[in-house]
Amino acid sequence: MKIAVGADHAGFIYKDRIAAMLRARGHEVLDFGTHDAIPVDYPRYGYAVGEAVASGLCRRGIVVCGSSLGISMAANKVPGVRCAPVCEPYMTQLARRHNDANVLALSERLTGWEMIEQLVPIFLETPFDGGRHAYRVEQLFSFGDDDRARAVEAIEDGRVIGAETPPELL
Ligand code: RB5
Repeated sequence: MKIAVGADHAGFIYKDRIAAMLRARGHEVLDFGTHDAIPVDYPRYGYAVGEAVASGLCRRGIVVCGSSLGISMAANKVPGVRCAPVCEPYMTQLARRHNDANVLALSERLTGWEMIEQLVPIFLETPFDGGRHAYRVEQLFSFGDDDRARAVEAIEDGRVIGAETPPELL
């Protein structure tokens, strides 16, 4: 599998180790940096990995920053990206099974390396469950200007709009 990796200065050590782990497992790795501890801005690296995945250049992406949060927010700004910041195995499994996550965000400051070694294979090997989850995942990208206008109008009117999920999918 072709996998994009990226990190800021607070995540590059794990990113390099993850890249080595992926290569040892036979994956092709596209490394977007950064490569040392000189402070950089995490959004640039999140966008780069996000674009690599959303464009189809890479099938999956893994990003690392100090907390996993900033870089995941950046990756999620790229349309088509479903980036999940995770810290334990079941969460990682659900990110694949329910959310079809195509980018994983990891924390170098909060998550031990032994845990990372467990999480990366789970992310790569767990399939998406599909079904009702596909219907929900599609909504992440179909929410547009009309939906926003409808929500704002309802808020202004003091109304709460209910979800309109077909009963068979609930
Ligand atoms: C860098 O100090 C740190 O803010 C960054 O790696 C990340 O944790 C941001 O969310």
